[in-house]
Amino acid sequence: MKTIAIYSIKGGVGKTAAAVNLAYLCAQDGARTLLWDLDPQGAASFYYRVKAKVKGGARGLLQRNGELPGRIKATDFPNLDLLPADLSYRHMDLLLDESKKRKRAFGRLLEPLTDDYDYIFMDCAPSVTLVSENVFRAADLIISPVIPTTLSVRTLNQLSAFMEHPKLRDVRVMSFFSMVDGRRKLHREIMENLSQRRKGILRSYIPYSSDVERMGIRRAPLPEFAGRSAGGHAFRLLWREIKARIEDGGDGNRA
Ligand SMILES: Nc1ncnc2c1ncn2[C@@H]1O[C@H](COP(=O)(O)OP(=O)(O)O)[C@@H](O)[C@H]1O
Ligand SMILES: [Mg+2]
Repeated sequence: MKTIAIYSIKGGVGKTAAAVNLAYLCAQDGARTLLWDLDPQGAASFYYRVKAKVKGGARGLLQRNGELPGRIKATDFPNLDLLPADLSYRHMDLLLDESKKRKRAFGRLLEPLTDDYDYIFMDCAPSVTLVSENVFRAADLIISPVIPTTLSVRTLNQLSAFMEHPKLRDVRVMSFFSMVDGRRKLHREIMENLSQRRKGILRSYIPYSSDVERMGIRRAPLPEFAGRSAGGHAFRLLWREIKARIEDGGDGNRA
């Protein structure tokens, strides 16, 4: 089982779009896949037409280990399940703070699923909190979307600094450019510059595309309803590259 967190300190960078589409493509490859919608706003659950509600809320989830399967919902697609968001996730930080293994609670929660899933994707809310630390500890790989602007580059530096923590050294970090406008010189320059300096930057990128926005109207992953669109194609290439890098193993993949 590989656990992949789609994470950024920033909001609105394309995390949910990536989590929804990559989990879908992963499941399409035949891998047993679970997507955990960790954002209390529940956008990933919405895209998959699953009610953003979890029995017992965040507290129930953290307290009753082993009852996770009852809270997991099927999606409309083969091999793909969803652990929905819940509004109470907004209190997750407090609850984690009260729990015994405050930094490893998510890891312990997901442990019993090892035999049930090949991949778990986590769609994270933007923050640097105890929730994020739990995500980092539970993850094998963190994928961080970056809009090619100067500020986002700074955010990526902050993430790298955080991941230097001794307990997080084994976690791989990859990054991809999101909402790219190829006509903008600044986008092209930042992409070129950053790709040269950082090994963990993926070559595939996601263009700015209104098809991605249509996911909210269709309430479905992009490759499902517009597989041949530029966006659908870009997500397929991105997933292929991520998978190749995972299978390649090794380190030196830090974004
Ligand atoms: N590649 C893209 N092109 C155009 N719009 C996008 C793209 N990716 C995401 N969006 C839109 O931008 C908004 C934020 O994206 P989202 O994936 O929810 O970001 P996050 O999860 O990081 O907050 C959404 O309205 C989404 O439809
Ligand atoms: Mg989101």
